Amino acid sequence: MSALSTSETIAVIGAGTMGAGIAQVAANAGHPVLLFDAQDGAAQKGWDATAKGLDRLVAKGKISQQDKDDLMARIQIVKDLSDLAPAKLVVEAIVENLEIKQSVFAQLEDICAADTILASNTSSISLTQIGTNLKDSSRLVGMHFFNPAPVMKLVEVISGLTTSNEVARCVYETSLAWGKKPVHAKSTPGFIVNRVARPFYAEALRILEEGGADCASIDAVIKRSGGFKMGPFELMDLIGHDVNYAVTTSVWSAFYHDPRFLPSLVQKERVDGGLLGRKSGRGFYDYSIDSDLPGPTIAAQGFPPAKIIVEGHMGPAEALVDRMIDAGLDVVRLDEDDSVLDRITVGHTHLMLTPGGLASELEASLPFEEENEALVLFDLSIDYANTNLIAIATSDTADEEHISEACGVFQAIGMDVCVLDDIPGLINARTIAMIVNEAADTVNKQVCTVKDVDLAMQNGVNYPKGPLTWADEIGPDYISAVIENLGRTYGEDRYRVSPLLRRKISARMYFHE
Ligand code: NAI
Repeated sequence: MSALSTSETIAVIGAGTMGAGIAQVAANAGHPVLLFDAQDGAAQKGWDATAKGLDRLVAKGKISQQDKDDLMARIQIVKDLSDLAPAKLVVEAIVENLEIKQSVFAQLEDICAADTILASNTSSISLTQIGTNLKDSSRLVGMHFFNPAPVMKLVEVISGLTTSNEVARCVYETSLAWGKKPVHAKSTPGFIVNRVARPFYAEALRILEEGGADCASIDAVIKRSGGFKMGPFELMDLIGHDVNYAVTTSVWSAFYHDPRFLPSLVQKERVDGGLLGRKSGRGFYDYSIDSDLPGPTIAAQGFPPAKIIVEGHMGPAEALVDRMIDAGLDVVRLDEDDSVLDRITVGHTHLMLTPGGLASELEASLPFEEENEALVLFDLSIDYANTNLIAIATSDTADEEHISEACGVFQAIGMDVCVLDDIPGLINARTIAMIVNEAADTVNKQVCTVKDVDLAMQNGVNYPKGPLTWADEIGPDYISAVIENLGRTYGEDRYRVSPLLRRKISARMYFHE
């Protein structure tokens, strides 16, 4: 089934945050739109909010006054659900409550034509369950927009067990025609984005809980070296801890308390205490004080490096060595055949890319020749050639001199350094590995395709790259090793490698061939 023609009427039920935005998207594409809200005055409020938003675009010269007026004229407020009869597609964006949604769709079945598509913008309720009391649930589909709907490109098109393929295809094509980037997904808890994004928050919360680093340093490392637009703490503060915690808890419960999705006590304490983030004036950061948010804790200037010995191969961090050579540092590369370990040595300090475990644990297993040698692990970066911040974690035996030697190497190539406590998998390595693993598992469980999981994370939450593109670039074997080592260190089932990742490694294949 192809996209709906722009002459077809679209109905939107619920004119709150999402409904008003969805009405704008459909009207912008040229459809006549009917907007209904059960609460007196709410539809007008939604209409006014949309008009005000468009006024700002007119003022900025992004759209003309005429375009704005034409768009708003296409959105008609209606007073009764029965007024939605002419609609070819109804998008429901009302309160997130199963019984209320079921009742609205049951009424729509009698109001609208037999071939009207019924779509729900639910973010957490099973589409199959919403359709249980419908006479024809094959025309019920999920159309999950992201906030703000006019801006965010992603639409997750969700099929319940009884949704017809033609209906899902039509909603997909229609979303495309509306300028969106749709993906297909099966109705499973969290669909794609709300599931695959969980580790972005969860790993950061654990690093904080275990004293690995402060919020501002974690946020800075994730942004400046991980390539994400926002850090997990500033993003949770923006979303609101009540909302973010509720999504985590709902996904965790829906997966029968799988430890992969375990909510965090650190976040619950904030929810219980009303420290909900920006909206309450305080979350992880304090917004009540009239000053900038705190910055990362950056290490003092270390020793300028003398000779740098590189043994073996740095894997995903190879560009770091190129950068040292380009900076004119005295780099001696040992023949790979002579290498025992993949490491960079400066003075008495050995630097290795984090394999996912503790620096102290790894150091104890290494054949050091002298007594005063120590191990420092550095974090994964998605762009070693350009990043200007790196996180390091030192073994418990490392002293100020070792830290200074380690910092000096990175500073000599223009990087700031954040020194973490000995936290397994540091910040980016564990976060990215867990996101990649969740993306692989989502594909493994047939929720969506490789292409769609990448598209969804880039367009739903603005990830710099799709997780499975990362897997290919960083190497599935490195991702898998980080998770296995995290699992060994923590002894928790939370860190278990997806069978699909294992298959790729064994077959020496990539997600994108
Ligand atoms: P909201 O609270 O801003 O708006 C909901 C609107 O629905 C209200 O104006 C309310 O009066 C109206 N309403 C409630 N029951 C109704 C009924 N029986 N008939 C007609 N209108 C009714 O809520 P929001 O945030 O727009 O969420 C709506 C839906 O979209 C929910 O299912 C939510 O899970 C989903 N969603 C929300 C996102 C968000 O970031 N807020 C993102 C993606 C999906």
